[in-house]
Amino acid sequence: MPIRELTPLEARAEHARLVEQIRHHDRLYYQQDMPEVSDAEYDALRRDLEALEAAFPELVSADSPTQQVGAAPSQAFGKVEHLVPMLSLANAFGEEDVSDFLERVRRFLGLDADEPVACLCEPKIDGLSFSALYEDGRYVRGATRGDGQVGEDITRNLATLVDFPERLKETPARIEVRGEVYMDKRDFAALNAAREEAGEAVFANPRNAAAGSLRQLDVSVTASRKLRYFVYAVGVCDGYTPESQHALITWLGEQGFSTNPETHLADSTDAIGEVYAALAEKRAALSYDIDGMVIKVNRTDWQRRMGAVQRSPRWAIAYKFPAEKAQTVIEAIDVQVGRTGALTPVARLTPVTVGGVVVSNATLHNEDEIERKDIRVGDTVVIQRAGDVIPQVVEVVTAKRPKDSAPYIFPKACPVCGSPTGRDPEGAVWRCEGGLVCSAQQVERLKHFVSRAAFDIEGLGAKVVEMFWREGLIAEPADIFTLEARDKDSLSRLKNREGWGDKSAENLFRAIEAARRVSLKRFIYALGIRHIGEGNAGLLARHYGDVDSWVQAMKDASGNEEVMQNLLAIDGIGEKAAHAMTAFFSDERQVAALEALLPLLEVSPDQSGAVDSPVSGKTVVFTGTLVKQSRSEAKAEAQALGAKVAGSVSAKTDYVVAGEAAGSKLKKAEELGVTVLDEDAWLALIGRGA
Ligand code: IVH
Repeated sequence: MPIRELTPLEARAEHARLVEQIRHHDRLYYQQDMPEVSDAEYDALRRDLEALEAAFPELVSADSPTQQVGAAPSQAFGKVEHLVPMLSLANAFGEEDVSDFLERVRRFLGLDADEPVACLCEPKIDGLSFSALYEDGRYVRGATRGDGQVGEDITRNLATLVDFPERLKETPARIEVRGEVYMDKRDFAALNAAREEAGEAVFANPRNAAAGSLRQLDVSVTASRKLRYFVYAVGVCDGYTPESQHALITWLGEQGFSTNPETHLADSTDAIGEVYAALAEKRAALSYDIDGMVIKVNRTDWQRRMGAVQRSPRWAIAYKFPAEKAQTVIEAIDVQVGRTGALTPVARLTPVTVGGVVVSNATLHNEDEIERKDIRVGDTVVIQRAGDVIPQVVEVVTAKRPKDSAPYIFPKACPVCGSPTGRDPEGAVWRCEGGLVCSAQQVERLKHFVSRAAFDIEGLGAKVVEMFWREGLIAEPADIFTLEARDKDSLSRLKNREGWGDKSAENLFRAIEAARRVSLKRFIYALGIRHIGEGNAGLLARHYGDVDSWVQAMKDASGNEEVMQNLLAIDGIGEKAAHAMTAFFSDERQVAALEALLPLLEVSPDQSGAVDSPVSGKTVVFTGTLVKQSRSEAKAEAQALGAKVAGSVSAKTDYVVAGEAAGSKLKKAEELGVTVLDEDAWLALIGRGA
C-alpha cells in the first residue's frame, strides 16, 4: 500500500515493524558480524523507514535508526568515546542522485548553477571503519566506529595491521585518523580454505572475515590474519591544516599510512560518472572488495562550512555499485557431508559470469532455506555475489519454472553412508549420525587431522588424503604413522606410483616422521571433536598440561562430578564443548582410534604456562567490575603471564581478583579460604602497581 494511504495507526505499526527489523539486522551486522540480508536489502529497509518518517514526521524520535549510526558497541571490549563523532554517508544510486548532490552543494555554498565543484572520488572500501589517535606523532589509541559516538577499544589490534605506523614522520600535536580495515581477497580465500579444512565455519565475505579478525580479544589472532587498511579522513587534527581532501590524502601517505591510489578529481556529474564507470570496470581486478565510490567535496574550507546533517556530512556521498546478480539454472542439488556430519545442500548451476567471476555452485545453507525460497531442481534463479566468494540464491524466477517441477525433498538419510540423520537442536542443520562409519566424515576428519593448525604435514594435503583413503592406505589417523613401514613391504610402492617419485615419497615420509612430535594443543585440536577449535584446544592444553592427564580426565568426566566441574571451571569451556568431549570419549570407536594413535606419537606437554612470572601456573578467577581495565583485558594479561583463568571458584583456585560489586564468587572464596585480591593488589602482584 502506498505510504500516503496509511492511517496514522497503520503507519505507527509499520514504523515499529521497520525499526525492529533494522535493529535486528544492525545487531547481526555490527555485533555478530553475521548479516542475514544483503546491503541492498538493508538499504531498502532504511529507505522505507525514511520515506515513512517523511510522510509521518510525528513518528520520528531520537532513538529511531534514522537518527543513529551503526549499533552500540559489544560489551567485551573497553569503550572509547570518539573525540568527534564518526559519521556515515548518505547513498546515491544513480546519476540523478549525483547531480542532486552537486546541486545541494552549490546551493548551500551559494555558488552559481554551473560552477564546477571539484570532488575527490575514492573507492568505497568494503571493510570496517576505525579511528586511530596519535599524540605528538605517536600512536596512542585505536577504536572501532561502534554507534558513531562510542566505539570499542582495539588499540592493540590495530597495531597489528600490515604497515600500520606507530610513529609518524611529523609530530602534529594531536591527530585522529580514520580509515577502513579490510582483508585482501587472496588472504580471505586462504583463511577460509584453512577454516574449511579445520571444519570451522567459513566467513561469508572478506568484510565479515575482517570484522571477525579485528574484533578479537586475543590480539595474536588478529595478528595472524594479515589485515590491511586505508586511511581516508581525519577527526581531530591539531598541528596540520590540509587545504583539500586531496592534499590530506597525500600528507597521510607521507606520514607513513596506507592510502588508496585509485582516487580521481572530477568536478561535474558527467566527469564523476566517468570515474565511476572506470572504477566499476576495475573493480574485479582490485585485490580488495569495494562496494561503490565515495564522492567528497575537495576543498576543506567548503567542507567545514557545510558540516553535517543527522548522521552524515553534507559534503560527501556514497555512490553505490548495484549488487552483482545474474540468472542461471539449477541443474542439481547435492548434499555434502562435513567432518562433523553436517549436511549442506549445494546448488549445481549452469556456469554463469557474475561480476567477472564464473560461478557454478551456490550454497543453499540448509533445509529451511530451500523450503523458504521453494528452490527446486530445474528452476531458473537469480544468484548474487555481493563481494561474497560463496554465491547465494536470491530468488526463484517462478515464471520460468518447468511445468513438471516438484518441490525438493531433503534427504532423510545420509547421502553418503545411508545412516539416519538428526536435526541439531540449536539450528536448522541436519547431521549424519553415522560418525566414523560414514566415509565422508572419515575423510573429512583425516583432512582436518593433517591440516595446518593440526598436524600440519607437508605433502599430505586434502587431495592426497582423499587418494590414500580411496586406495585403502589410510582409514584412521594412526595409519598415517605406519604408512612408511607398510610401504616398504608393499608391492606397489608409493615412489613407483603415478605422480610420485623417490624424492616426493621420501619427503612425505620425512614430514610424517617430523609430525610425530606434536604439541598437546595441536593434538587435541587435530582430533576434530565438535566445538573444540584451536582456542578451546589451547585452553585444555594449558589446563591439563600433558596428554595423559587430559585423556584420563576426559574419560572420567562423564561419570565423575568433580572432574566435570573442574573441566567446566576452565574459563571459556562451556557445556557444549564439555558435552562434545564426553560424547567423544564415550564412543568406543573413537577411543580405539585414539589408543592406536597415542603410542605412535610423542605429545609434548604444554609450555604456555611456563612463563616466569609471579602468577605463572596459578589459577585465577576474576569477578566484579574492574576499573583500571576491562575484565577481558585483565584475563588476557593474566593468561599471557602464565596464569590459568577459571570461571568459578574452587579449592584449587589460587587467587580471586574481586572488583567492585563482587558477589557470590567472592563469598565462596572467603568460605574456602582462597586469597582475595582487589584490583590494585592484583596489579601490584603482577608488577603493574602504581
Ligand atoms: S569517508 C565523514 N571514505 O563507508 C565521512 N568512508 O557509509 C566518513 N568507507 O563509515 C567516511 N571507504 O566505513 C569514507 N573512501 C572512503 C570510504 C569510506 C569506505 C566507509 C566508512 C563509512 C562508510 C559510510
